[in-house]
Amino acid sequence: MAPFSLCFRPFVMQLLLLVFVVLSTGLCAGDPPLTLDYYESACPTVFEIVKKEMECAVLSDPRNAALVVRLHFHDCFVQGCDGSVLLEDTITLTGEKKASPNIHSLKGFRIVDRIKNKLESECPGIVSCADLLTIAARDAVILVGGPYWDVPLGRKDSITASPELAEANLPTANEGLSTIISKFLYQGLSVTDMVALSGAHTIGMARCENVREGIYSGEFEATSGINPLSESHLNNLRSTCPPVGGVGNNNVTAMDYATPEIFDNSFYRLLLKGEGLLNSDQEMYSSLFGIETGEIVKKYAADPVAFFEQFSESMVKLGNITNDESFENGEVRKNCRFVNT
Ligand code: HEM
Ligand SMILES: *[C@@H]1O[C@H](CO)[C@@H](O)[C@H](O)[C@H]1NC(C)=O
Ligand SMILES: *[C@@H]1O[C@H](CO)[C@@H](O)[C@H](O)[C@H]1NC(C)=O
Repeated sequence: MAPFSLCFRPFVMQLLLLVFVVLSTGLCAGDPPLTLDYYESACPTVFEIVKKEMECAVLSDPRNAALVVRLHFHDCFVQGCDGSVLLEDTITLTGEKKASPNIHSLKGFRIVDRIKNKLESECPGIVSCADLLTIAARDAVILVGGPYWDVPLGRKDSITASPELAEANLPTANEGLSTIISKFLYQGLSVTDMVALSGAHTIGMARCENVREGIYSGEFEATSGINPLSESHLNNLRSTCPPVGGVGNNNVTAMDYATPEIFDNSFYRLLLKGEGLLNSDQEMYSSLFGIETGEIVKKYAADPVAFFEQFSESMVKLGNITNDESFENGEVRKNCRFVNT
């Protein structure tokens, strides 16, 4: 009984929080809808330009695809998709780059700069950084083998950033499943969206700091359970992530070690085997409260087409998170790192 009440109280509180945030969310009210042909007359080559730059970036290093997809996610969860994540600290503005989910972790800003430079020379002052990033994330997914989807456009770039909302809204690897679900619901995304979008972890790397503790606790060992990690993979993880506190914390290791550079459903198949690298990912399948998420994980593990279809749909929803502020006071930044003067 004791362990139960320990677990249960915070869970009830999270539920209350969840009800509260769902009721109080005011995102999206009254915004002009995004459209597929937004730049058709002002910048007809926008898709070509972004695609070409992303091809170069991903060709030179497949991880660049992961960096751009994550940038887009961390943009949209903070004030909506408004390019706020791209802003540098200045005397008058504190950006989001030093917020704990982002610091030492978010990368890919130079790729965005390169695309922006090309767009500014082709159609100056037309394409927002928020739209650029949304298109680039779609192209990134395609370039590593993932699905295509049409990208609605017409976002504006914010003239503000919010390190506080970056701390509060972005999910982290040590949070429980119900907390993470509530963060997605707050953004207007469903449990299904959450599980499907987490499939982005089929590409990219995590730092040792975020790797679940099991690699030393024995939870992954052959004697410990039904679904151990292979001895050789466990040894790889241990040599990349030494146990000494601090040292090696910024070493990285692939979240989908089976096919780290390919966008496929292998991430979900690893979860079925108990081999999720992040605690938060494994919880979708293994948590006591993860019955619904576990069923979805099983579905995507068995059916790559179902995963691709839902991922595309959920990415459009992610990109659709906007706020009135950026439409009313937003702009098209000339340099994605700074508001226009
Ligand atoms: C569901 C809650 C999520 C949590 C708790 C989470 C957490 C994390 C963490 C801890 C990392 C490793 C960062 C590091 O160690 O530096 C990471 C990487 C990544 N995340 Fe997530 N994430 C979530 C959802 C998403 C979503 C929705 C997307 C995109 C649609 C996404 C895309 C990525 C990508 C592509 C990487 C690899 C980046 C790289 O290679 O540097 N994540 N995530
Ligand atoms: C996008 O958001 C608008 C409200 O801003 C809503 O009317 C529309 O249905 C949403 N579209 C999608 C695909 O979620
Ligand atoms: C991990 O980091 C430590 C300390 O920075 C370093 O000595 C070690 O070589 C790194 N291991 C790998 C596999 O990168």
